[in-house]
Amino acid sequence: MRIAPALVLALLAAAPALASDKPVNAGPYVPSPQSVVADMLKLAEVGPKDFVIDLGSGDGRIVLTAAKVFGARGFGVEIQDHLVRLSNEAAQREGLADRVRFIAQDLFKTDISQATVLTMYLLPHTVNLLKDKLLAELRPGTRVLSHDYPLAGWIPEQYVQMDLEDKVAISGVTTTLIYLYVVPAKVAGSWNAKVAANVAKGPVRLDFRQQLTRVSGSARIGGKELPLEDVRLKGGQLSFRLPGRGGQFSGTVRNQAIEGVVEAGGVKSPWSAVLK
Ligand SMILES: C[S@@+](CC[C@H](N)C(=O)[O-])C[C@H]1O[C@@H](n2cnc3c(N)ncnc32)[C@H](O)[C@@H]1O
Repeated sequence: MRIAPALVLALLAAAPALASDKPVNAGPYVPSPQSVVADMLKLAEVGPKDFVIDLGSGDGRIVLTAAKVFGARGFGVEIQDHLVRLSNEAAQREGLADRVRFIAQDLFKTDISQATVLTMYLLPHTVNLLKDKLLAELRPGTRVLSHDYPLAGWIPEQYVQMDLEDKVAISGVTTTLIYLYVVPAKVAGSWNAKVAANVAKGPVRLDFRQQLTRVSGSARIGGKELPLEDVRLKGGQLSFRLPGRGGQFSGTVRNQAIEGVVEAGGVKSPWSAVLK
């Protein structure tokens, strides 16, 4: 049988698209021990205002526990249909179906923007494949919990290490890690700031450089460039100090604006900035 060259080319061109329709297997079904589930949710201080999304939800235990014990809402996504069915049945049985649901869906194609807490227990390389998605879709301040595997280059807000006998059957060792990250606001760029006259006379420009949660910066005041000290960013909460002048700034970053309080010479006053 002869195949026309044009048809061969068309088939070759379609191949990557066809292949990419198959979900990436982000890990086999291995449930987190129930004690780890409780520790993860406690570490993130999950409460009734939270919306928890578990990527690769297995039998649904993380989202079910978040609802039952901590009063949260949420959903889980899972590619194995029978696990989704089991999870939804458990939600019905435990009277939680009005607050949680489980969807048969590829986690890489799931809209996660609703999460205030995102959990995952996935293969190490998968966790890192998700990094850009987490930063693009999650709002600043969203807590991200990863069981056992870290997000490379992203400094955790907290991490907990413990030994659990249950883990030997899963990973061959007792070591168990839980990483808690907080999605940082985007502050990189130049900002025009307004401050009280006791802090600086005239316009102030703030320049921030950012790599995930690591931020450094400088202030341009009256033609002088001053490096900012002790710059910290947790979610949308930004703080830094102006050298010499003793101005301690704190503020909340929202969209392309910052509003907060600066304390200089024992006097507190409001300050604000907008991205240029
Ligand atoms: C290690 S288990 C974790 C289960 C649960 N999150 C827990 O901690 O108990 C990983 C789960 O991810 C699911 N999974 C793997 N790849 C997936 C994908 N592309 N989309 C959705 N689920 C996926 C697997 O079927 C498996 O149930």
